Amino acid sequence: MPVPISVVIAYHSGYGHTARQAAAVAEGAAAVPGVLADLRDVSTLDEGLWAALAEAEAIVFGSPTYMGATSAVFQRFVEASAPVWAARGWQGKLAAGFTNSAGVNGNKDNALLSMTVLAAQHGMNWVPLGLMPGWIYSSGGSPEDLNRLGSFVGAMAQSPSDLGPEEAPTEADLRTARHLGEHVARTALQFVHGRQAADALAVAA
Ligand SMILES: Cc1cc2nc3c(=O)[nH]c(=O)nc-3n(C[C@H](O)[C@H](O)[C@H](O)COP(=O)(O)O)c2cc1C
Repeated sequence: MPVPISVVIAYHSGYGHTARQAAAVAEGAAAVPGVLADLRDVSTLDEGLWAALAEAEAIVFGSPTYMGATSAVFQRFVEASAPVWAARGWQGKLAAGFTNSAGVNGNKDNALLSMTVLAAQHGMNWVPLGLMPGWIYSSGGSPEDLNRLGSFVGAMAQSPSDLGPEEAPTEADLRTARHLGEHVARTALQFVHGRQAADALAVAA
C-alpha cells in the first residue's frame, strides 16, 4: 500500500462559519482514497502546525473576509510563515483557498487573491476551483447550484450576518467547499505520481 499523502486545511474562523466551510473542504479531501485531510486552525501557531504543513503535499488556505481582506489572525499566520518562505519550505507544493463572508460579494475576491499571492511567494502551484459559475450566471441557474457565487480562483461561501454557524453557510456553499477539497486531493495525487514517474525516467536516462 502506498503511504497516504496529506492535504492540510490551514484556516481561521472568528465565529465558526468559515470553520464549517473548512470542515467541508476536509471532508472532500478525505473522500479521495490515498489522501489524509488534516484540519489546522492557524490561530494557534505551534510546532505541530509547522510540522504538518512541512509534510503536506497540498495546503488549502481559508479565512473569513473581514474588511474586504483575510482576517488579522490569518494574516498573522501568513507573516509567521516568512522563515518557511526563506528556507523555500513550501516550494512546489500545491495551494488552494476558500473564504466566507456575509455579503454575496463583500470583496471576497480580494481575500482569495491575497492567498494566491501568498502561494506565489512560497513558490507553490495554485489549484483553482475548477467549476463553472452557477446560479445567476445563466437564467436557468438556482441558488442550490455548485459554485453559486461564481468564483474561479477558490471556493466562496456566504453566511448572513444574523445567522449562527449552525445555519450558515448554505448547503450549496458547503458542497462547493467539498468539491474544492476533493479536487485538490485528486490533483495532489496526480502530482505525487507524476513526480515519481519523472524521477524514474530520470534514473533510467
Ligand atoms: C471585523 C469584521 C469585518 C467584516 N468584513 C466583512 C466584509 O468586508 N465583507 C463581508 O461580506 N462580510 C464581512 N464581515 C462578515 C463576516 O465575513 C461574516 O460574518 C463571516 O461569516 C464570519 O466568518 P467566521 O464566523 O468564520 O468568522 C465582517 C465581519 C467582521 C467581524
